[in-house]
Amino acid sequence: MGKQLVPLISQEQIAATVRQLGQELDRDYEHRAPMLVGILKGSFIFLADLVRNMKTPISNIEFIRLSSYGSSTISAGQAEVIVSLPEKAVRSQHVVLIEDIVDTGITTDTAWRYLRQYQPASLKLCSLLDKPARRQVPVNIDYLGLTVPDRFVVGYGIDFAQKYRQLPAIYALEE
Ligand code: IMP
Ligand code: MG
Repeated sequence: MGKQLVPLISQEQIAATVRQLGQELDRDYEHRAPMLVGILKGSFIFLADLVRNMKTPISNIEFIRLSSYGSSTISAGQAEVIVSLPEKAVRSQHVVLIEDIVDTGITTDTAWRYLRQYQPASLKLCSLLDKPARRQVPVNIDYLGLTVPDRFVVGYGIDFAQKYRQLPAIYALEE
């Protein structure tokens, strides 16, 4: 009856993926220091590793938080910004939104629209994982790490009912 952790992405694979994303961002932001905005809570470990893989100066690191799944594995139909940013922090910045995983797309789309209204100089999306199978809202991922199958994943910052964030690798949570 208990849920099992099935290995999906190793620590080594994660490290190589984050290194690659850091290089892509370095290449594209060489001449304009980006501001990174992490979506809490799931992106916190990814963001921490990503910035340490970037050589380009970063102008600012901020976080926003959206209402989440709660403790369910089924996404609610909509997201709401519950920890926000001042408009002046975003305006005229080259913003990169940092997400752990894009699933239905609702969270990312909400965050994207929220930041867009503050008129950043540019806005891009970087997500460690993409789970396209359940997409409801189209999302363009400018910097993508890995695509995952339609399984519920945990670890490396990603939770189930607030658990498993501390796992250094990524697992599928199976019945
Ligand atoms: P979306 O709004 O459905 O795209 O979901 C985005 C958010 O849901 C992500 O930031 C994750 O926190 C969470 N999420 C989506 N898929 C999973 C999963 O497989 N495991 C854990 N959290 C997930
Ligand atoms: Mg989350």
